Amino acid sequence: MYSEKVMDHFTNPRNMGEIENASGVGTVGNAKCGDIMRIYFDIDDNQVIQDVKFKTFGCGAAVATSSMATELVKGKTIYEALQVTNKAVMEALDGLPPVKVHCSLLAEEAIHAALWDYCQKNDIQIEGLEKPKDDISEEEEEEEY
Ligand code: FES
Repeated sequence: MYSEKVMDHFTNPRNMGEIENASGVGTVGNAKCGDIMRIYFDIDDNQVIQDVKFKTFGCGAAVATSSMATELVKGKTIYEALQVTNKAVMEALDGLPPVKVHCSLLAEEAIHAALWDYCQKNDIQIEGLEKPKDDISEEEEEEEY
């Protein structure tokens, strides 16, 4: 029921881990299943994502979509990264079973949350980027400054 690419990214996830002193961190929870995802960005002065890592407390589809999503945004500008949708991630994975589509939203929302965090810290506004709905990292924000 899972494509080979999904199985590959699930068993051998890319970019798993964390980045110390990250330029932007986003944490979101999936209301539907309670799973959690956190994405870290290292963004350079040209607003290019030099490095990205993720951690998840979630299902296999969440691991695979996050792994693929991090691969898709690495090396992109923050503006290009915003265009990486869960649909694009699913396409890159050759699809997901319908009951697992909501899992791919976790990766998209975590990317947006991390971009939002970066933009807040750097006083940047990106059209179309909104405050994350499910951001649950508020209590940790202090230690990031
Ligand atoms: Fe929760 Fe997949 S079941 S993210």
